[in-house]
Amino acid sequence: MTATQIGLDAVSVQLGAQTALSSVDLRIAAGERVALVGANGSGKSTLLRTLHGLLPPTQGQVLQAPGIRQAMLFQRPHLLRLSALNNVALGLWLDRARGLRWRQAQALALQALARVGLQSVARQNGRQLSGGQQQRLALARAWARQPDVLLLDEPTASLDPHAKREVEALMADFANSGQPALTLVWASHNLGQVKRLATRVVYLEGGRVLADLPVADFFNPHVLAAQSLAAHAFVQGELA
Ligand SMILES: Nc1ncnc2c1ncn2[C@@H]1O[C@H](COP(=O)(O)OP(=O)(O)O)[C@@H](O)[C@H]1O
Ligand SMILES: [Mg+2]
Repeated sequence: MTATQIGLDAVSVQLGAQTALSSVDLRIAAGERVALVGANGSGKSTLLRTLHGLLPPTQGQVLQAPGIRQAMLFQRPHLLRLSALNNVALGLWLDRARGLRWRQAQALALQALARVGLQSVARQNGRQLSGGQQQRLALARAWARQPDVLLLDEPTASLDPHAKREVEALMADFANSGQPALTLVWASHNLGQVKRLATRVVYLEGGRVLADLPVADFFNPHVLAAQSLAAHAFVQGELA
């Protein structure tokens, strides 16, 4: 057994009258690339927000290995009305644990922008960039913080096909180039993307995990149907 880096232990989350997550057990090891799939309202965002500590579980526990750094991206990036460069630099500078001077933060931010191919727009207002550039900027901001775990909530859902491919390529590149490998956990509506990027797929329905399989098994109709008829029906519906 590999050690758990992050996870949920019997976690339930109640949001108002809605049980958004119900007794979810999930243990993720370093370097795994876990895709969360399921219909709208199945609990994907709630699971990510709970893993990231943004939502307290009503029951159960969030697991996190000591000293782990996490970053999270949303479907629409939350950018400040500042230059692309300063959107990245500010987060680094505000991180007291780093104790960086502003110039150092800017230098690191410029490296991060180069990493995502945005150095040429470093001085432009982050909010005025295209949707794809904004998502790459959000990726640069996350990457600059050198996370061990990157959580992404439908990061390509609101992008055009070209921008989708660029963001997906960066996710793959980040996942492959880290030493040790970055852990990715992301919600996706795009089964093609899941097939290309994931090592493991978790299927949610009504706040429950109905299937949790290695990617090859998840896309094997016989294995998936044996695990969960609901998950099998979902995949068939998406592929139809
Ligand atoms: N702030 C909220 N208050 C009440 N219910 C919510 C809230 N956010 C989400 N929910 C409900 O929790 C369930 C899971 O939602 P969510 O995690 O957003 O699903 P997904 O990301 O898979 O679409 C849904 O039934 C949704 O309506
Ligand atoms: Mg969601």
